[in-house]
Amino acid sequence: MKKTFLFACVAMMLAACTHSNEQMTNGFINLARQRYAVREYAPTPVEQTKLDSILEAGRLAPTARNVQPQHIYVLQSPEAIAKINELTRCAYGAPVVFLVCYDTDSVWTKDGSNSGDMDCSIVGTHMMMEATELGLGTCWVKWFNPAEVATAFELPANHRPSFLMPCGYAAETSKPSDHHFSRKPLSETVTYK
Ligand SMILES: Cc1cc2nc3c(=O)[nH]c(=O)nc-3n(C[C@H](O)[C@H](O)[C@H](O)COP(=O)(O)O)c2cc1C
Repeated sequence: MKKTFLFACVAMMLAACTHSNEQMTNGFINLARQRYAVREYAPTPVEQTKLDSILEAGRLAPTARNVQPQHIYVLQSPEAIAKINELTRCAYGAPVVFLVCYDTDSVWTKDGSNSGDMDCSIVGTHMMMEATELGLGTCWVKWFNPAEVATAFELPANHRPSFLMPCGYAAETSKPSDHHFSRKPLSETVTYK
């Protein structure tokens, strides 16, 4: 009787563990499915606590040699937003635009190339997914001229813009583009060897 009870307890504990692991996995996959490139924003400001969490998620990202060469400009003043709208057609009316740069003086460099865009991309992906988790929309934007942006925002010479990320609450009319639903099957993009 005692043995059966013990066995049942262990089985229940194992089932609970498996279940919570499944939930964790599905949690991220669901978040990844939920995210889409938001190209229409409500004017509602983004709360500072949410900005803090998004920036913290970026801070936790891995970078080559742990150099952490990223520097993030949070564009949100009316002047900064007006300026970025002049420099790209892809800010989409967002109340906040992250301008993600890397420091060319400290970035890990080897054989003439550096990990700056890669480091920034990992930082940006962390930020994007945290924003999604917080109910915010984002869009990754490369449609701008880095030199023009650097001049307009008077960046130090060692801050190289990598990408822009508009962020805010999606407008009620916002919906994913057709691209969002088009992903190649794993059989086309994965090879086991
Ligand atoms: C490196 C990169 C650059 C991108 N540049 C732009 C851009 O300049 N403007 C834009 O509207 N979307 C841009 N996107 C968003 C992609 O078009 C979008 O993520 C893709 O079509 C898949 O759609 P989804 O994000 O809705 O799933 C970019 C995405 C990536 C990853």
